[in-house]
Order: sequence, then structure tokens, then C-alpha cells
Amino acid sequence: MSSRKYSYIVFMSSFVFLVMLFAGSCKSVLRDSSKDKIAGKNIDKQVEELLAKMTLSEKIGQMVQINDFDGVISDELKQRLRDGKIGSMLNEIVPEANLEIQRIAVEESRLGIPLIMARDVIHGYRTIFPIPLAQAATWDPNLAQACARIAAKEASSAGFQWTFAPMMDIARDPRWGRIAEGFGEDPYLGSCFAAAMVRGFQGDDLSSPDTIAACAKHYVGYGAAEGGRDYDTANIPESLLRNVYLPPFKAAVDAGVAAVMSAFNEINGIPATGNVHTLRDILKNEWGFDGFVVSDWKSTAEMMEHGFCEDMRDVAEKSIIAGIDMEMQSSAYGDYLEELVKEGAISEKLIDDAVRRILRIKSRLGLFEKPSIYSAKLPGKPNEEALALAKTTAMKSMVLLKNNDKLLPLSKDLKSIAIIGPLADDPYEVLGTWNRDGKPEDTITPLAAILDMIGGDTEINFITGLPYSRSKDTSEFAKAIELAKKSQIVLFFAGEESILSGEAHSRAYLNLPGAQDELIAELAKTDTPVVLVIFAGRPLTIGDIAEKIDAILYAWHPGTMTGSAVADLIFGIESPSGKLPITFPKTEGQIPIYYNHKNTGRPPEGKQLTMIDDIPLRAYQSSLGDAARYLDIGYKPLYPFGYGLSYTQFEYANLKLSSDKVKLGDNIKVSVDVTNTGDMEAEEVVQLYVRDLVASLTRPVKELKGFKRIRLKKNETKTVDFALSADSLGFHTNEGKYVVEAGKFHLWTGGSSEAELMTEFEIIE
Ligand code: NOJ
Repeated sequence: MSSRKYSYIVFMSSFVFLVMLFAGSCKSVLRDSSKDKIAGKNIDKQVEELLAKMTLSEKIGQMVQINDFDGVISDELKQRLRDGKIGSMLNEIVPEANLEIQRIAVEESRLGIPLIMARDVIHGYRTIFPIPLAQAATWDPNLAQACARIAAKEASSAGFQWTFAPMMDIARDPRWGRIAEGFGEDPYLGSCFAAAMVRGFQGDDLSSPDTIAACAKHYVGYGAAEGGRDYDTANIPESLLRNVYLPPFKAAVDAGVAAVMSAFNEINGIPATGNVHTLRDILKNEWGFDGFVVSDWKSTAEMMEHGFCEDMRDVAEKSIIAGIDMEMQSSAYGDYLEELVKEGAISEKLIDDAVRRILRIKSRLGLFEKPSIYSAKLPGKPNEEALALAKTTAMKSMVLLKNNDKLLPLSKDLKSIAIIGPLADDPYEVLGTWNRDGKPEDTITPLAAILDMIGGDTEINFITGLPYSRSKDTSEFAKAIELAKKSQIVLFFAGEESILSGEAHSRAYLNLPGAQDELIAELAKTDTPVVLVIFAGRPLTIGDIAEKIDAILYAWHPGTMTGSAVADLIFGIESPSGKLPITFPKTEGQIPIYYNHKNTGRPPEGKQLTMIDDIPLRAYQSSLGDAARYLDIGYKPLYPFGYGLSYTQFEYANLKLSSDKVKLGDNIKVSVDVTNTGDMEAEEVVQLYVRDLVASLTRPVKELKGFKRIRLKKNETKTVDFALSADSLGFHTNEGKYVVEAGKFHLWTGGSSEAELMTEFEIIE
């Protein structure tokens, strides 16, 4: 037992999470409750007055969300609207019909309560921004906030008042297709982006015509699915739940998120949708969330498949007790809640609480005053502001993984360029998983952008080589190789199609699909240098191909402005500056692999490790270096969290702390000098990590606690400061308590999680 003294401090958790957010460059703004009196009205009063007038059946109607039609409003739907049996509809896409639905609800139902119309607007509406994982790679939450703001403007103009975003599921398994929709593996980075997107969608005032309600999803543990299989089981101890999976949700709640969506998965044997502990105890009671909870699509009814509910009546009872306020698509609430109340199985107070929450958000949205303030017209082509933002975000999200001998940036005066690859000129497959309302005709492809940028003296030839990413058709290989041979450079645009990531699209093999690896390997055998640009919704296992290629730009699924962003980076108008928000494994067998892992009793670092080929035949059993690693692949990832190259170099020096001892409640000021020692102006993401050396619960080997994106001219030095509060350096115990313990910490700053510039400090009592 360590001789160190422990000091346990238990905080109100909201305070702690706030401190977390202030420690770096991402700031959280708590929702201003004075805004609850929009246009001189008192929201609570409006809600209570309405609730008092409602019949039980009308109350339950508010708790029902359906997706019912494709533009044609059936007589049955009309009747349900008139009877006040529907509170919300989702993913209906005909604007005129949406308006008509609102009109019937407002003008022909007894109480005239408007519906809240919802849509999955995840990374853009008409303007498609980079997928959320890519947005996280910018390490610039302000950009994500701005993207969400534009998405809200476009979606609200089409008649929607609510989006099912942001998704903030922490994920450590790139096999999981929905990793594309989240912010990666880190709770701190994820919290910053979750809060930023909420602020972007909701703005300062939910009642403005161009803001929409956000929805934090999927609560909770959805990204911890066993084996990376979508919908699969998650087992998450309380401390891990609170230290890793819950923080982004808490940040979203603190930023005033209007709604939360319960997840499909079970956690520790209890489905997330029927989970009293996470929904009622933590979200509603402990955090004081005052918006409403919607189930995911039939996730209530699926509790029967989970083996948690017997029938739909049981589903309704367990869901309402757990804290589901609105049921998406299945009919347990509509069919059984009334009966459950009348028979005394549940109290009407539970229903009142749910309805109050839904009405509160409708009131905050200003729907009672002006349900028709939302025009319902599909937005036209993206405007210049939206396109400029889409391009900047895409550019800052792309990560330069490799650049041997400074192959990039390319000169614009090349004699000839071969553009090859299935994704070089595909306007659809670069839009990403949640492209619902974007139009491929808006997309600028890499081929189009390069043709536009490069003058007529350069010969540019294009061949796909493979018709699409999964294709195994090698019939064009010979032509592609021929083209490569007679060109000065090959630009190969590879990747996975949009549909290979996202919901229900988990993969067991994470290599480039189809025969892409084969074709790239053939091209690499020519004397022509190859630049590889990869579009994907997740980290792919590109280790083998990376060895054969000199320059790799990882571009994710960048959206509408794909080509313009890629061209600017390839030809050096701007330097790449994205950093990985997730660890890249060498092979699927290493998964899960994440930077903030535990040290174990037998860490591999610094040990003499015998690898598989070094083991003599008939060797007797021995512990071979005693380390937590693989015989065949070691323990290091292909690329670590936070990694990303630039066309210039940055040097870190003079890491200083205002003091090497800090008391609880106090801050340490951290400063470090960063110098651009290369020959191009560029941006760098300065990262700050800590390690709590000894604790009553073992702590990760590194934890991100701050980051700042800075721009430096050639030879320029900037001193970058962070304020690190002692109170943000605690953790949740297995009992769910937040504690900060006295003792020693290591602190690093640098350009990735493998930062080496290190110092020490101590938290004292
Ligand atoms: C199921 C998905 O899990 C969720 O993210 C989405 O918002 C709903 N379907 C509605 O489309």
C-alpha cells in the first residue's frame, strides 16, 4: 500500500464537468434560464396551464412519435392528429405535407398543440459537412458549432424543429460502423464537440426561427458494443461509465441540450431504454436534465427481444418508469399507458412529468406562438458561407499520415498527373454516412477541383482503375499502370463508400475494400511516386499499403467540398493540420486499442520483447518479456491518437508550470513555447496530457486535459497557455463518486498523445 495520503473530495458532478470543459480551448456555456421567458412569456406557467387542461389520452398523445407517410397524409393520420394522439413525427420529408400536418394539429385538435417535427440532420442538411469523426479531427469545436449552425438554418427552413444529433458515443472499436458519427475515443475531446454542436444547433435562443432542438444520443454505452457489432451488448463498470462514456452527455446537458435519445444496447444486463439508473437516477435526478428523453427507433419494443420485457404492456411500464418520455415508432405508449394508469400500475405523475418535459421544449421552441414560423421549403443550393465553412472544416479535418522526403505538397507546375482510384470523381460516396438531404450535384470531386486548379500546361489523365471501392474487377489495372508509368505523379483516391460505415455497417476486416490494395501495390512498383488520399468513415488498417506509399492523406468522408479541400492541401495552398481523434490499429486483432489505456502490471514499454519469429522451435513455456502485448504485432498502434503531420515542423520547448504543487480548488498555469521551424505558415494543435501516477483506482497512462489550435508563421514562436484546475484531475470511483486525490502527476505537451516534453506536479491537500 502506498504511503501517500489520500484526500477524497466529492463534488457536485456538474461542477466537475464544467471544470473539465474549461481546462482547454473548449468552453462550455450553460443554458441561460432567463431565456425561458421568451417574448415575455413564462414557460413554466404556459406548460402548467396547458397540462391542467389535458385529458390523460391527450397527455399520452404527446409522448408518441411516429414516422407514418411519404407525403400522403392518410385519413387515419388526420384523425390521430385531430384526436391529439401524436406529439411528434420524424423523418417526413415533404415540406408541404409537414406544414399541413402542423396545420391539422394546431387548427383541428382540441388543444391545438403543435407537433415537433424531427429529422436526422447529423453532419449537414443540404450542405454536407465532414462526418462527425472528421469534424473531431479538426480539434476545433468552434468549427463544429458553426457547421451545426448552418445545418440548423437549412433544416429549419425545410420545416424541422428538432435534429437527432449530435451523436456523442465514445468508441474504441473502429469495426463499429457508427464510429463515423461520433467524436472518437476520448471523453474530453468528445465533450468539447458535443457541447459545441448543441450550441450550434440550438443557438442562443431556441425560439428563433432558424434554431432547432438538439438531441444527445445514444444514451448510453452504445459505442461499447461487444466486438464492434452494432446493437450488441455493452458491459461497463460504473467508474468506466462515468469516466469515459457519460462525460460528453453531461457536457451536452450543461450546454442546454433539449432532448436525449436512449440507446439500443443493454448495459450490464439492463437495456439502455429501460435503465432506471442511467436515465432517471443520473440524467434526470443527479444532473437535473429538464428536457425530454426519446427512445431510439422501437428500442422500447426491442426490450422484449433483449429478454427484459414480457410483452408490450411490460414495455410501456418499464420504459416510463425508467424515464422514456417519448416513444419513437413503436406503440407501447399509445396502446398501454392509459390502461396502466387506470389500473394503478403506474402513477399519472410519471405521465405528467414526461409531458411537462415535452411541452417545455415545445414552448422554448416558440411553437405555441408560431408553429408556422418555419417555412417549409427545401433549401436550394448551399450558399457561399456554407460552402466556405464546409471547405475549411474539411481541410482542417484531413490528417497527413505520411510524407516521406516531403513528397507533398506538389508543385502546380508538374508536367503530368495521373489521377486514379474509385473515389477520385465520385460525388456521392464522399458525402458520408448520414447524407440524407445533400445532393451529389453540389459535390466538388477531387478530379473537378484539380482540373480547376491546375493550368493547361500540365497533362492530367484520369482513370478509376476500379469502378467502385468494393470492386474486385481488375480489368483496368493494366491501363492504370500504363498511365502511372507515363506520369510524373500518381494521385490515388481510395477508401470505403459512405454506406460501409454508419448504422448497421460494422466490418470485421478494416482493409481498403475490394481490390484497391492490389492496385495500389501494383502502382507502387512503378517508378512514379504515389500519393494516396483515403476517404473513409473509420480508421482503416492500412499498415501494409502504407509501407509501399510515400505520402498518405487521410480525408475521412469530407462532404460537399471534398475536392476543393483536398486540392488545396495537395498543392500546398494550406498545410494539413488535422489530428487523429482515434487510434489507428495496425490490424483488427489489436482492437480495442486506445491511447488512454491502463498501464497493467506488466507494461511492454522499454522491455526487451521476443517476437514470434525469434522463438526457438520446441521452446518451453516462458513469459517472454512479461508484457501486455502481442507476439506478432507488438503493442504500438499504426498511428497514435492526436497524431497528424504538417508540411512544416513544430518544436516544443520551455514547458513551465506556475507551481509544481497545486491545492484542491486552485489552478496550475501551464505554458509551452511552440516554434514553427519549417518553411511554411501552418496550424498546429497543441495538446496537453496528464497521468495520475498513483490512485485508489488505477488511472490511464495518459489523459487529454486541454488542446489549442494555433497558427504560426515561419520561424514564429508562440507561448501557449493552459489553466489546469486541480479539481478537473479527479475521477469517478466504482461507487460513482467523483474524487480528487492528492499525489504526483506527470504532464506532457506536444503534437500527439506520444508527446515527450514532460514535467511533474503534485496535488496537495
Ligand atoms: C435509429 C438510429 O439509431 C438513430 O440514431 C436515429 O436518429 C433514428 N434511427 C431515427 O432515424
